[in-house]
Amino acid sequence: MSPTRTPDVLVIGGGIIGLVTAWRAAQRGLAAAVVDPDPGGGAAQVAAGMLAAVTELHHGEQTLLGLNLASARRYPGFAAELTDLTGQDLGYRRCGTLAVALDSDDRAELRELHALQRQSGLDSQWLSGRDCRRLEPMLAPGVRGGLRVDGDHQIDPRRLAAALLAACGRAGVVLHRERAERLTVAGDRATGVVTRSGAVLGAGQVVLAAGSWSGRLAGVPDDVLPPVRPVKGQVLRLSVPQRYAPFLSRTVRAVVRGSQVYLVPRENGELVVGATSEELGWDTTVTAGGVYELLRDAHELVPGLTELPLTETRAGLRPGSPDNAPLLGPTALDGLLLATGHHRNGVLLTPVTGEVLAHALVTGGLPEEARAFSPRRFAPVERAA
Ligand code: GLY
Repeated sequence: MSPTRTPDVLVIGGGIIGLVTAWRAAQRGLAAAVVDPDPGGGAAQVAAGMLAAVTELHHGEQTLLGLNLASARRYPGFAAELTDLTGQDLGYRRCGTLAVALDSDDRAELRELHALQRQSGLDSQWLSGRDCRRLEPMLAPGVRGGLRVDGDHQIDPRRLAAALLAACGRAGVVLHRERAERLTVAGDRATGVVTRSGAVLGAGQVVLAAGSWSGRLAGVPDDVLPPVRPVKGQVLRLSVPQRYAPFLSRTVRAVVRGSQVYLVPRENGELVVGATSEELGWDTTVTAGGVYELLRDAHELVPGLTELPLTETRAGLRPGSPDNAPLLGPTALDGLLLATGHHRNGVLLTPVTGEVLAHALVTGGLPEEARAFSPRRFAPVERAA
């Protein structure tokens, strides 16, 4: 597409959700553009990349589970397609997950999760503490039991973002490396954006995919502004020297004193430890307390971890929504669609989001599997009808 032609679709936000939307739209024959000062950045630069539909199941989130599983099923084909197209390795590792309990409260909670998983028809196996340690010898001797979930895998979100950026380039997606300052609306229709430098970018349709910032874009009418909020996550990266490999062979996670901790081992020796979950607005400070809690909890799980070099500490913002599920597709404002609110599941939901949004952009409607995630579920009553 020529940079001067008005695109069919302008995506606000060049994180993995915005990029997959633009890429899939371009594959469907739409002229697509993305506006973002740092395409390929965003929460994916912090996220661990667990594809944890089964181990992150929560009571009351069975509808979301359906979408999570639909996306997990797409992952093998999605990753293969991106790698074939770009030649880039995504760090997609079908290694499974082990969720363990360190005391009797944790064990009771894990038993509850197991019951919920079984009621939901999911594949998950209860193991004794000894069997957990047989699988993962670095686990603490005090581990009291665990759930083996062979279907919850991982991908490296930084590599995924880089590959999506390359795929967009190949598909002719135009990148505007600028911040979108305001949505423009003419009559009752979204028409594009004005950027921070004052450039006016018009488009046939606009997709707001700016993560937590989606709820702050000026010019979006109040009744369609997505109710997303930032949920801070602090994450650590360590490196496993060759002499310790394999340190862990799969993702290991637990709830320790009510906080989630997970250890995600990459094939390249990186070990990601996450994540805090903090309602602190726009703050992205890495704090001593956050790092201390993550290391303390991870050390209880895997004591040998304190020998490893600590290579990075970082904080990012998950786009939380009122029901923890994403907002996908058309809004009550013609020409404006949303792809935001993915909260803890942005990486997992990337494949299905791309397809759902491309479908919505081409047909004007949502496929059956995504109807429950329409932004209209949050619309004021008079506009929802
Ligand atoms: N899904 C992991 C997290 O959000 O921390």
